[in-house]
Amino acid sequence: MTTVRDFGAGDEPATMLTAYDALTAALADEAGVDAVLVGDSMGNAVLGYEDTLPVTVDEVASRVGAVARGAEDALVVADMPFLSFGADRRESVENCGRMLKEEGANAVKIESNPQTVELTEHLTDLGIPVMAHVGLTPQSVNQTGYTQQGADPEQAEHIAELARAHEEAGAFACVLEHIPANLAAHITDDLSIPTIGIGAGDACDGQVLVFTDAVGLGDGTPPFAEAFGNVREEMTDAMEAYVDAVESGDFPAEEHSHVAEELDDLY
Ligand code: KIV
Repeated sequence: MTTVRDFGAGDEPATMLTAYDALTAALADEAGVDAVLVGDSMGNAVLGYEDTLPVTVDEVASRVGAVARGAEDALVVADMPFLSFGADRRESVENCGRMLKEEGANAVKIESNPQTVELTEHLTDLGIPVMAHVGLTPQSVNQTGYTQQGADPEQAEHIAELARAHEEAGAFACVLEHIPANLAAHITDDLSIPTIGIGAGDACDGQVLVFTDAVGLGDGTPPFAEAFGNVREEMTDAMEAYVDAVESGDFPAEEHSHVAEELDDLY
């Protein structure tokens, strides 16, 4: 079993991929990823929402349960959706606790802001490991858009301080999303917990990608991601082949059908 202490402690960079179901989690696990993130990116990646804001605690919880059933070795991290934390401390603890207590997650990820420092400390004290997340935080899309964060010195220092404050509060790792590579390198140097980059250069202690981007299943790939396969084309070809085969009468063929001889006299 992977614990948050093992995560990022190896000699090689740590790997994290998102997954939203048991099958994908099992494949990611077999491929050797260190952590599976049940990201609220499920909102736009697979649930058909415009962004991550409508994703609910119930939607994340049901998928965390599926991912935890599919992943054997990888750390399972539940991404806490918009407004499921921060407004009320008790509710935040209940929502985060549910992911571990009822669904089998090993940790939660919380998009960080100055208010989540105290919450991170409280959750960690209660035994709920917290992964911090600074830089571009998509739940703040209405304030920041999806552009790179931290390109001016004041903003950069604010992001670096936020990361440091979350480490001091007990976070076991910190996602750095869409920030300049030199800022990510500075934060990685400054922190003793692992930094996990996405669009943050190669100096981070690990990398994370949304799995639909990584396998080429999504509808386009962000500029900082890479499609390591073309699953979209494979799936489309297979589905078209199925439609053609049924429509032409080629499927099902004799080998797909079983005739019960006992019924020979009847039918
Ligand atoms: O929701 C998500 O998938 C994320 C990663 C992009 C870090 O937050």
